[in-house]
Amino acid sequence: MTAADATPSSPAGASPAAAAGAVNGSVTGPVVRPRRLRTTPALRRMVAETSLEARQLVLPVFVREGATEPVPISSMPGVVQHSRDSLRKAVAEAADLGLGGVMLFGIPERKDPTGSGALDPNGVLNLAITDVVAEVGDALTVMSDLCLDEFTDHGHCGLLTPDGRVDNDRTLEAYAGMALAHADAGVDMVAPSGMMDGQVAVIREALDAAAHTDVSILAYSAKYASAFYGPFREAVDSSLQGDRRTYQQDPANAREGVREALLDLEQGADLVMVKPALAYLDVLRAVREAVDVPVAAYNISGEYAMLEAAAAQGWIDREPAILETLLSIRRAGADIVLTYWASEAARLLAR
Ligand code: PBG
Repeated sequence: MTAADATPSSPAGASPAAAAGAVNGSVTGPVVRPRRLRTTPALRRMVAETSLEARQLVLPVFVREGATEPVPISSMPGVVQHSRDSLRKAVAEAADLGLGGVMLFGIPERKDPTGSGALDPNGVLNLAITDVVAEVGDALTVMSDLCLDEFTDHGHCGLLTPDGRVDNDRTLEAYAGMALAHADAGVDMVAPSGMMDGQVAVIREALDAAAHTDVSILAYSAKYASAFYGPFREAVDSSLQGDRRTYQQDPANAREGVREALLDLEQGADLVMVKPALAYLDVLRAVREAVDVPVAAYNISGEYAMLEAAAAQGWIDREPAILETLLSIRRAGADIVLTYWASEAARLLAR
């Protein structure tokens, strides 16, 4: 091996011999040594380009109508469908840990074609919002998933036409009503996730007309029709047959993800999201570079389940793998990461 081979990081223009630190013709090794900055934990910490902090994490939580105790979700070990009581405990803990927020999902006892439980002020999600706000006050940002799929008996994110297609514009009316119900219940931020065209504008208009001008909108802007949502379907007892490919994005399209984010900003979104996270880190980076608002990424159920399954087999070292996963999403450009590990990760980061 020549000296040049041994020093791929030779400064441009420097002679291989100089870069290799040749003294009196004997090779003593490279002058440029990136390893120097990796010598001690303190030095590594000082030069770290990306941070992972509790305040950047949002915990998604499920609350199940009628549940008297938490119900485990088998495909998401460690995640449960909460009762109203256990939900209060989980969010109080999230606040104590200094998380950025919680994202609430409701699972109604009865589903129907129009998802009427979503608009009912006594519906599970609306009651949960009030409970959570009463529990944590301003200590956490309380966010709600604004979508019909948990509430419809067909499992789609919108209302259906007589021939079974998802009706964009009628669905928008339902979303406006849902936004008002969430705002009346006290939510800080609504998160429309149904991928209907024009949803952000309709929601902003409805909120403003009802003087809820301070309720912000986190738009699930670039949301892909992903196989990795599988465990979530169990989490919300979804009755979906088929797929969501007429409204969620084609995994082949990255530019289109940026376009969706820009459209949502034009319509008044305060923050935008890319979802899923891991298989879409390129989209996340592209969106981060295209917008000047905070960008969130959702580390979704299937991503959680894969790592948990490998760890349960003893095939992967669970805790470092969790932190590396979340850090990779931050590094790709997410300001905010939604993750089922949020509380645990906050504990790991504190020790
Ligand atoms: C729609 C919604 C979904 C998720 C969050 N909001 C499911 C879907 O679009 O099919 C998925 C979250 C996850 O998989 O962790 N209400």
